[in-house]
Amino acid sequence: MYGYKKGVAVVTGAANGIGRAIALRLADEGCAVSLWDVDGAGLEAVAAQCRSAGVAVDTRVVDVGALPAVREAAAATTAVLGEAPRILVNAAGIGQVASILDGSPEEFDETMRVNVRGTYNCCHVLLPAMTAQRGGNVVNIASWFGKSGRPMSLAYCASKFALIGMTQSMALDLARDGIRVNAVCPGTITDTRMREAADRQAVAKGLPPATERVHMIPLARLGTPGDVANVVAFLISEQASYMTGQSINVTGGLWMN
Ligand SMILES: NC(=O)c1ccc[n+]([C@@H]2O[C@H](COP(=O)([O-])OP(=O)(O)OC[C@H]3O[C@@H](n4cnc5c(N)ncnc54)[C@H](O)[C@@H]3O)[C@@H](O)[C@H]2O)c1
Repeated sequence: MYGYKKGVAVVTGAANGIGRAIALRLADEGCAVSLWDVDGAGLEAVAAQCRSAGVAVDTRVVDVGALPAVREAAAATTAVLGEAPRILVNAAGIGQVASILDGSPEEFDETMRVNVRGTYNCCHVLLPAMTAQRGGNVVNIASWFGKSGRPMSLAYCASKFALIGMTQSMALDLARDGIRVNAVCPGTITDTRMREAADRQAVAKGLPPATERVHMIPLARLGTPGDVANVVAFLISEQASYMTGQSINVTGGLWMN
């Protein structure tokens, strides 16, 4: 635990998987949390767990790809929790197991809308208040698929490469405003809805599920959402106060660049 100063954190994609683990960790660190997701039922379950950490909790059913909805969610968060968010973790994301040949243009557009435009929207709306306060922290959940083209992941790779570029550009633009912007690049993380869907799609296309790829991972296990949340918590903490613009792999050694 890092014992953050108190503050409001927005976590997108907080209803499930990695976003859920990050939300729980930030609540344990003492942040008031605003949980944003399209999955309202999932949000309420996570909110109940966050409240048991003794922090204020707000939930917003919001499609991060829709700018007006993000504006509304931000205003409501500030009104309910009493101050503008100083921490933003962009974990909402979607993906498909598909190549240029078997993926559709519509899937491509939707992946870019949620993963790239969704992250843009949340940053665009929440960063002005952070710059006004001269302090803030953004962590974007990218992927090792944002560092190396991978098979059967065309749209997803494109979106995650974009997130790393956005992370670096924002880090440069906002450093003098006291805002750090970093990315985390998870490897093969289990216990998430995206992992279940990817495994189903992979098997349907004759490809191995994640459990059959463990032998490729140097640390010899799949990652957990908690593994990712640990690194996010570190990046937000004062222990990482000299880090910005970084894209940190959390892959069990699978990817080292
Ligand atoms: N699971 C992995 O192996 C893995 C690896 C690398 C990166 N990631 C990234 O981690 C992040 C979280 O993924 P996960 O594996 O926990 O999957 P998940 O499906 O369990 O969680 C994603 C969450 O995002 C929400 N979401 C989807 N579209 C949304 C939208 N338009 N607006 C708001 N919320 C939306 C979903 O409802 C869900 O709760 C994603 O960005 C994903 O790309 C996952």
